[in-house]
Amino acid sequence: MFPTKLFRNKKSLIAVTGGIAAYKVCEVIRYLVTQGSDVRVMMTRSACEFMTPLTLETLSRHPVYRELFPRNGYAAPQHVHLADWAELGAVIPATANILGKFSAGIADDFVSSTLLALHCPLLFAPAMNDRMWENPFVQANLKRIREAGYEICPPEYGFLAEGYEGMGRLARLEYLIQALYRTAHPARQSLKGKTVVVTAGPTREALDPVRFFSNYSTGKMGVALAWEAFARGARVVLIHGPIQLTTPYGMETVGVESARQMFEAVMDRMKEADWIIGAAAVADFRPAQQATEKIKKTAHKTILELEANPDILATVARSRRPEQIVIGFAVETTEGKRHALKKLREKSLDMVVLNNPLESGAGFAGDTNRVTLFHRNGRQLELELMFKLDVARKIFDFVLEPNR
Ligand code: C5P
Repeated sequence: MFPTKLFRNKKSLIAVTGGIAAYKVCEVIRYLVTQGSDVRVMMTRSACEFMTPLTLETLSRHPVYRELFPRNGYAAPQHVHLADWAELGAVIPATANILGKFSAGIADDFVSSTLLALHCPLLFAPAMNDRMWENPFVQANLKRIREAGYEICPPEYGFLAEGYEGMGRLARLEYLIQALYRTAHPARQSLKGKTVVVTAGPTREALDPVRFFSNYSTGKMGVALAWEAFARGARVVLIHGPIQLTTPYGMETVGVESARQMFEAVMDRMKEADWIIGAAAVADFRPAQQATEKIKKTAHKTILELEANPDILATVARSRRPEQIVIGFAVETTEGKRHALKKLREKSLDMVVLNNPLESGAGFAGDTNRVTLFHRNGRQLELELMFKLDVARKIFDFVLEPNR
């Protein structure tokens, strides 16, 4: 679902400050490099106590910046040059010290000086001892940084270097990546203050305690939409059937099994939603009876009676407020356009995303999709084959920037 080069050509500047979590930044740097980013690293003096610069030089394939006053003759003010060069900045891990210095505008070494000179989006991923994390001054500094428009990837609860569990562990790699993606997103604020509810994945319709009906949906398209909405600053609620994907960071997730449960969950969230996107492959039917015991092979009834599930999106569209945006998907194997337009009309949606699962590279399970977008105002956009995250980006652009 992710493009092969999520950070292609992005000039990323990673600041490493002195905490035990510094060793984890290796994975982040390696990830950025593999995703096409041009990475430079700067380290504070205490970061170099935890980790040798050689490691990060090897991973980033560039010298690590450390000294504000290099001793080898005249050097132009490198911290300003580096700050001008960067398109994406991240402090991983961010100690209580750097949060304090940055929020107070202190520049007393290479890292703190460069951070103040940056004019690109900047992410802080704090990691520290739990008591330091809870300190009201640390929290106040963090609040100031957040309110000034910087991104924060908060730490997690877990095993700390001190030998006990607490709040303050550096966010795990998947979360850091998602936070970096958001920080780098060109439309980072385009859904700020909006709540986006996304349904994703299949539903399971129980036949008896051990069997169910379902479909091949993996939830990738829905999770990509949730990622994209999060990256655009939205509050995201992801309502998903059984899926194997890592639960995305920074959003509320509601796990359900059946179509009826998904229906309840969506109706529950309907009021707070500005956008409702139905990317789930909801089963249209369920077994009319659910056996309480496992059905035996010897049972002579071979015809299964089905009954219809509620149509979630159609119900949403009927009871929506006019300013709410409702988007549905259409999976069609024949006469796609006609069905898509019919769905748009009959379910009174703002937009339908049509895909044909029989086309190569499109539909369920894969990382790519090939879709056509239909807007109720008549606009249509046929997209080439692309990664699901890129499809998600196009879907939001299509609604938010109608003139593009
Ligand atoms: O009518 P059809 O099932 O093809 O419509 C597909 C769209 O409707 C998808 O967006 C899907 O999430 C949604 N849907 C729904 N509830 C159902 C069936 C489909 O919300 N019971």
